[in-house]
Amino acid sequence: MKQDPAPYEKQIFVCTNDAKGEKPSCAGDSRGEEIFRALRNLAKERGLHPRVRVAQAKCLGKCGLGTNIMVYPDNVWYSGVTPADVAELAQKYLTK
Ligand code: FES
Repeated sequence: MKQDPAPYEKQIFVCTNDAKGEKPSCAGDSRGEEIFRALRNLAKERGLHPRVRVAQAKCLGKCGLGTNIMVYPDNVWYSGVTPADVAELAQKYLTK
């Protein structure tokens, strides 16, 4: 096993899990996939990717609270995120 420093300054994990109606989920019941794509596109457009990485997560364990997002190394958790929150998240995390 090899150990290195994390290759990213920041990682924004957006849950895009779709449980297909078997249980609440961030992409099935809310709009995780849309939120993920919007944030990732903004990171790319602003020239931050891959230094700031917006990544998909396949379930963060709080399925009924979606859409869930966690941000490292800030150690911040967002729940109940909607597409209307993308601009505020981008202002916080996707600025140079
Ligand atoms: S489906 Fe998003 S936290 Fe489980």
